[in-house]
Amino acid sequence: MRKGNIIIRNASQLVTCSGFSAKKGKEMSDLSVIENGTIIITDGTISYVGKDCPSLANYPHHQVIDATGKAVLPGFVDSHTHFIFGGYREEEFSWRMRGDSYMSIMERGGGIHNTMNATRKASFEELKEIGRKRLDSMLAMGVTTVEGKSGYGMNKEAEIKQLQAMKALNEDHPVDIVSTFMGAHATPQEYKGREDDFLNYMIREVMPEVKEKNLADCCDIFCERNVFDIEQSRRYLTAARDLGFYLKIHADEIVTLGGAELAVELGALSADHLLQASDKGIQDLAGSNTVATLLPCTAFSLKEHYARGRYMIDSGCAVALATDLNPGSSFTNSISLLFALACIYMQLSPEEAVTAITINGAAAVGRADKIGSIDVGKQGDLVILEYPSYKFLPYHIGMNIVEKVIKNGFLLI
Ligand code: NIG
Ligand code: FE
Repeated sequence: MRKGNIIIRNASQLVTCSGFSAKKGKEMSDLSVIENGTIIITDGTISYVGKDCPSLANYPHHQVIDATGKAVLPGFVDSHTHFIFGGYREEEFSWRMRGDSYMSIMERGGGIHNTMNATRKASFEELKEIGRKRLDSMLAMGVTTVEGKSGYGMNKEAEIKQLQAMKALNEDHPVDIVSTFMGAHATPQEYKGREDDFLNYMIREVMPEVKEKNLADCCDIFCERNVFDIEQSRRYLTAARDLGFYLKIHADEIVTLGGAELAVELGALSADHLLQASDKGIQDLAGSNTVATLLPCTAFSLKEHYARGRYMIDSGCAVALATDLNPGSSFTNSISLLFALACIYMQLSPEEAVTAITINGAAAVGRADKIGSIDVGKQGDLVILEYPSYKFLPYHIGMNIVEKVIKNGFLLI
């Protein structure tokens, strides 16, 4: 990826989110804001952050941007999405509005299975092109790194096709992609009633090839009643850890199964969803380095109760926020909606929400040392808002207030 030189000065707020690891509990309120700040990016890397603007004569090869009246933040990290998929599920959405539940649609062969069929049919090129459009939309909302999962292939060929589409996009689209292998997203029809055989197939035949081809950083599983139970999840994730993958887990979304506790036990990067996480699960998360990744757009779309974000932060957890973009439970990559829901319905403060989608999102993908804050030595990924304060992010509801996006020191938007 190209690396550029740029100076941004006079930012009404330089919202640095300074730090190199996830922020927990009260630390999430500290954004380390510099007023009237300057930031210099050299060869794609942040080389100066401060209140004073050095003489521009010393930087003849740097583009200069005046950010008077604008807030500048680290590029956003959307740490949980399923953005590579074929087809859509607009019919199922209308059934859900009529009262059908998400799980009942899945149990009668729709849901994830519906998208699996469409994804298996789609070519590599089709998946790549549709993925590119979705990345363009993310970038326009300030997302500079996104996590994307496989899991709509559910056989070796189609899982690898999804992961290869992400790999190709990572190479030629400016948004950085952290890939996650999610072979255990559901059990396909051909293995119905033989969930353990399916898991064995994924563990023995698919997961090692994904590793060998270097197609994913993380492994994830849908740990849920009638999908994969705790024992199955432990088996799959342990195999993944033994192969050197980072771990993630769709945990305690619809029923309380103990997925949060399992994530902590296995040292996962994150436990995600957590709508039904128990008090014990939350205490375990608070005492660990596992990030609690909350996905309020999913709760909104499914008309479920929101995860207990306020309680989790008050208990000392590191919380991240992500969109969960997927064709079923959350067909949105709207960062503005995400901010509004997190603050209005989960009672996060604007400061906590900003931390959750910057440095804590970075920690949830294992990259807090490289991205997620404006610190010297980090990748030059920034967003410039059209307003002077980060507080407009949840307040200007549903509106994209990102005016400019800088990636590796290049002004892209
Ligand atoms: O995170 N819960 C499981 N997986 C996705 C939804 C996938 C789908 O419905 O296509 C989620 O919500
Ligand atoms: Fe998900």
